[in-house]
Amino acid sequence: MIPYGKQLIEEDDQNAVMEVLKSDFITTGPKVTEFEDAVKKFTGASNGVAVSSGTAALHCSMFAIGIKPGDEVIVPAMTFAASANAVLYQGGTPVFADVNPENLLIDPESAASLITRRTKAILAVDYAGQPCDYDTLRKVTDENGIYLLSDACHSLGAEYKGRKAGVLADMTSLSFHPVKQITTGEGGMVLTDNKEFAEKMYHFRNHGITTDYRQREKLRAWHYEMTELGFNYRITDFQCALGISQLAKLEKWVRRRQEIAAIYDKAFSSIKEYLAPLPSSPDVSHSYHLYVIKVKNAKRDILFHGLRKKDIGVNVHYIPVHLHPYYRSIYGDLRGLCYNSEQVYKEIISLPIYPHLKNSEIEYVIDCIYKMVKK
Ligand SMILES: Cc1ncc(COP(=O)(O)O)c(C=O)c1O
Repeated sequence: MIPYGKQLIEEDDQNAVMEVLKSDFITTGPKVTEFEDAVKKFTGASNGVAVSSGTAALHCSMFAIGIKPGDEVIVPAMTFAASANAVLYQGGTPVFADVNPENLLIDPESAASLITRRTKAILAVDYAGQPCDYDTLRKVTDENGIYLLSDACHSLGAEYKGRKAGVLADMTSLSFHPVKQITTGEGGMVLTDNKEFAEKMYHFRNHGITTDYRQREKLRAWHYEMTELGFNYRITDFQCALGISQLAKLEKWVRRRQEIAAIYDKAFSSIKEYLAPLPSSPDVSHSYHLYVIKVKNAKRDILFHGLRKKDIGVNVHYIPVHLHPYYRSIYGDLRGLCYNSEQVYKEIISLPIYPHLKNSEIEYVIDCIYKMVKK
C-alpha cells in the first residue's frame, strides 16, 4: 500500500533519540527547551510551548485567551474535529464558518458575519498546508477586538507573503504527528509573541503548577503550587530530540513535497474535465501536508475505491465537523449550515505525498487515475 502520508525516520534521528534514552532525563529535560528554541528560530516566533500533541496545543491556546462557558470561537467547518473540540474542552462554543470552495480555507466574509458580542477569537486552519488569508482575517479580528488564532497543524514550513506559519496570528498551534511535515511521534507546540500567554501555557501543560521538576531541582526546593486546573500535556525529552533532528531537514522535505505537488499539477492539467487540484495562492509558499483533488461528476467514491483496490492509500480530509454525530448530538441537525464545506466534502480525495515518495510511485498513482477517470 502506498499511504497518503508517512514519516521518514533516518539513522541520525534514531541516534538522537538513543542518546537521550541513555541520559538522566527521559521526560521534561533540556531537549524540550532546545526543541522550543529551534522551532522559534525557524519560524521567528518569540515564545514556544512544546506539548504532547497538536490537540493539546489548541487546548492550551484556548486556555491562554481565557475561553469559558458562554464564549464563542469561530472555526471553519472543513477541518479535523480537534480544532473545534479544543473550544469545547474549555466550555466554549465553536461556531462554524464556511470555507472558500476553491482552496477550502476559512472564508473571512463568512467568519465576519458570525461575530457576536460573545465571540472571542477566530481560529484559522491552514488546510492542507496552505496559509489562510491572514491579512483579511487580521482586519476582521482587529475591527472587532478579538483574537486571531492559527491552527497550523498542517502548515509547518509554509509561508504567507514571506512570513512563516507560526508568526501569522496571536497564537499558532503545530502538530508533529507522523503524517505531518516533521514528527515527534505524537507532539505539538504553541507559538506566540505574547509572553504572558506563554507563561500561562507553561503552567497549563504541567497540571497548572507554577514550577517544573527541573526548576525545583535547581533551587533545591520541594515546594510548588498549583494555581490553575491544568493537564499533563508534557512532551518527553526523547520526542524533542527526534523533533530537533527532524527540524533540520524540514526545508529540504518541504521542497520535495512542493516538487511532488508540481508533478501532480502538471499531470492533472490535461484531465481538467474530470478532476481539479486545489489551487495555491501566489501569496503563499504551500508546505503540502496534503495534496487534495476535487473529483467532478459525482465520481469521487468510484475513484476512491478504485485507487484503494490498486493499493493506493487515498483518504478524505475531512467530514465537515458539524456533521459528526457528537456535534449533531449537541447542536442538532446542522445540515446545510456550511454549504461549500458540505458540497466539497463529497468531491475531495487526498493523494499520497511525503518526501520519500518515489517518482515511480507518483507515476503509478497518476497512471491509475488517468485510466480510471477515462473509463
Ligand atoms: C487541522 C488539525 N488540527 C489539529 C490536529 C490535531 O493534531 P494532533 O493529532 O497532533 O493532536 C490535526 C491532526 O491531524 C489537524 O489535522
